[in-house]
Amino acid sequence: MPRIANPEQAAAALWAGKLVALPTETVYGLGALADDPAAIASLYTAKGRPADHPVIVHIADPACLDAWATDIPTYARTLAQTYWPGPLTLVLSRSTRARDDCTGGQNSVALRVPAHQGFQQVLASLALLADDAAAGIAAPSANRFGRVSPTTPEHVLAEFPDLDVLDGGACDVGVESTIVDCTGAEPRILRAGAITQADVSECTGLNVHVGGSVRAPGTLTHHYAPEAGVLLIEPGQVDRIARDLDPASTGFLALANLPTPPGLTRLASPVDSDAYAQQLYAALRRADDLGLRTVIAVPPPHSGVGIAIRERLERAAAATQTP
Ligand code: TXA
Ligand code: MG
Repeated sequence: MPRIANPEQAAAALWAGKLVALPTETVYGLGALADDPAAIASLYTAKGRPADHPVIVHIADPACLDAWATDIPTYARTLAQTYWPGPLTLVLSRSTRARDDCTGGQNSVALRVPAHQGFQQVLASLALLADDAAAGIAAPSANRFGRVSPTTPEHVLAEFPDLDVLDGGACDVGVESTIVDCTGAEPRILRAGAITQADVSECTGLNVHVGGSVRAPGTLTHHYAPEAGVLLIEPGQVDRIARDLDPASTGFLALANLPTPPGLTRLASPVDSDAYAQQLYAALRRADDLGLRTVIAVPPPHSGVGIAIRERLERAAAATQTP
């Protein structure tokens, strides 16, 4: 298996224009040097991603914000100071450094300071090589466009067998970062994640909007889908739905306190919402590995990271109903 031995090697490969898969606390990213147009072009080719869909630029700390963004509102700085490093992406007016190839030609750029130690060390090494503390790594999730994000090195290699991967173990959070559009007078959540609308509102003291028209492919209805069909089912409905399905080809994903309907394959038994988020994508991949046709997914309570989990499952279920 192609592996990168340490963060220094990963930084050297990026500096040489190569793609490297890197661990973050959310999901694995497919990294490329943000200042290198040829590397960004190969990133889009590898992912099969349309050129007008922007990527997140990962930076070392909030002090790098001004290199990549302009007209940064006070509330965005407050969010950065509070939640970085962590699973939060801020969309801001771009500086000239953020070129069209990273921003999909939009006037904004998405920035994030990841918390994973391995990624942090790669950024530190890259800063030395580039002699530039604000050196950035463009990194979409390391899956092919539209598929389930990877949360282990094995997931990455299942889709990109020849890619170099820095092994940082299984991701802590397990779902992608919360994306907050900070180009308006008040924050707007474009993608749910571990940091919630309530968190953003409490942190900024502002009214926080949800949803929007800014282009974000992670918000297409058909994103995050496994091959298996996903049925999003509330706890009280499980037995009725399971009765009509062939148990041999049906998987079951729910909190540990819900029993598996007879004959179904249990895909995961997370004890709480945090564990559910950590295990979600591995469970969906397992369904495909086992050749299951359908997954019954019972989401956790609709609070905290449970909101993001339900959103991902809704998208997977939408892909099922209108293939
Ligand atoms: O947790 C994460 O955010 C992971 C890790 C690797 O950091 N990254 C990730 O990247 O999920 P990706 O490319 O799979 O999703 C990034 C999302 C996309 O939906 C993209 O459209 C949106 O961020 N995005 C990027 N730049 C944007 C911008 N300027 N305006 C609006 N959305 C933007
Ligand atoms: Mg993605």
